[in-house]
Amino acid sequence: MTKVTMTVNGKTVSADTEGRTLLSSFLRDGLGMTGTHIGCDTSQCGACLVHVDGKAVKSCSVFAQEVAGAQVRTIEGMANADGSLSVIQQAFQDHHGLQCGFCTPGMVMSAAALLAENPKPTEHEVRHYLEGNLCRCTGYHNIVKAVLAASGQDVSGLGVAAE
Ligand code: FES
Ligand code: FES
Repeated sequence: MTKVTMTVNGKTVSADTEGRTLLSSFLRDGLGMTGTHIGCDTSQCGACLVHVDGKAVKSCSVFAQEVAGAQVRTIEGMANADGSLSVIQQAFQDHHGLQCGFCTPGMVMSAAALLAENPKPTEHEVRHYLEGNLCRCTGYHNIVKAVLAASGQDVSGLGVAAE
């Protein structure tokens, strides 16, 4: 076992790892941070998406030891300092961008990475960016609408059709 230390949501954290310990397991099992979900473990679904040094990373696709010393941000670090929902989280709530919520942590983290790169994306750019995030129940229309709303764009012309 090797102790790995990194910064998660601004706090220095450490946990024992094996060489095969994935970042997703480090967060969930090592730190008890279960907001990062595991939907597939094969880099398909995006439920485990976090930010590593500011980049969107599927945490089931990297070993914890590979990101030792990194700055990691998870869904637990997305709320405002006073505990209220961030703009992106609030937009998901306002526009019904979730149903069961299983995909939502990854969707929110992906949306945050997109808006950091591209603060005013087009609908096409949002859909393209979220291609690696799968939702099994809500459908994508309201998720895309929520991301566009979070970017400050008028979404009143977008319908609520299922997709
Ligand atoms: S659990 Fe990582 S992409 Fe599905
Ligand atoms: S809201 Fe259920 S999987 Fe997306």
